[in-house]
Amino acid sequence: MRIGLLTSGGDAPGMNAAIRAVVRTGTAQGHEMFGIYRGYNGLIEGDIRPLDNRAVSGIIERGGTILRSARSQAFLTDEGQEQAVRSIADHCLDAVIVAGGNGSLRGARCLHERGIRTIGIPASIDNDVSHTAMAIGVDTALNTVVDSLNRIRDTAVSHERAFVIEVMGRSSGYIALMGGLAGGAELVLMPEKPESLVEIVREVKTGIETGKRHSILCVAEGFQPTEGVPKGVSAGKAIAAHLEADAGIETRLTVLGHLQRGGSPSAFDRILACRLGHAAVTWCGEGRTGEMAGLVGQEIVQIPFERLEDPCMNVDRAIHGLAQAVAN
Ligand code: F6P
Repeated sequence: MRIGLLTSGGDAPGMNAAIRAVVRTGTAQGHEMFGIYRGYNGLIEGDIRPLDNRAVSGIIERGGTILRSARSQAFLTDEGQEQAVRSIADHCLDAVIVAGGNGSLRGARCLHERGIRTIGIPASIDNDVSHTAMAIGVDTALNTVVDSLNRIRDTAVSHERAFVIEVMGRSSGYIALMGGLAGGAELVLMPEKPESLVEIVREVKTGIETGKRHSILCVAEGFQPTEGVPKGVSAGKAIAAHLEADAGIETRLTVLGHLQRGGSPSAFDRILACRLGHAAVTWCGEGRTGEMAGLVGQEIVQIPFERLEDPCMNVDRAIHGLAQAVAN
């Protein structure tokens, strides 16, 4: 078979390890492997080139994606999707593997519904893809957050200040929750659990009254205080301003931003990427389509694309309770 591979959406550390696994497994199984560059934009434009085993040497340890990525607006249109299908035919591809987050996997479903043999691989630092316990990139991003919290704590303790750390997650609090738990944050704030600014101040003050000399608040970018925030003001900025101005607590804000998406993938992400990549290309060879390779327990399993519309259960309320319980 001739199998094409693309990476799409926000890049995630470990995507390169997945590309390497897909190409080398595919070659070993007798397939011809092709890189589709710049995500769905490259698919539409026919930016498709052969990839052999040597082309993926020395990339397992690299963050980002050698295939590059895009958030394609063109592929959201019927016209874009029709052009993508024509490109696939022009390059005589028998199957396409898509690595990315929810938007990218929805795109994979569109290809499948247009008759293209398509398999998905979850890769997004947000860990908000349904029916996989972990997506590629999450573990590395969490380690980056934890490392950052460690550094912030050094200065927070020295100055007896509050620190608001805004982490990624537009609609998922996974990074804030697990990063905050592992990094020992005093407070975790996530979109799945709105709280009021008054309550946030009360919790910080309670910490001070019980002898805490600093507070670290780990806030997902998508968190909304119940009072709302003025347009154009981030959640982190609103909380920091409120702690400082209304509660008189000296506060600093750090927005970790795209730092969280970069860096050499952790061992966990590399291993997961190898396993998911190997499964995806093997399933293509078996004629499967319309499925994502997911991690359930310790196993790599097939998840039909329709099931990706189910709510993602990776943010666990009980873990939020735990994070608060061990922070007091
Ligand atoms: O989808 C992953 C993600 O990292 C989100 O957490 C974040 O909101 C978004 O990407 C940022 O995307 P961009 O790089 O397009 O600004």
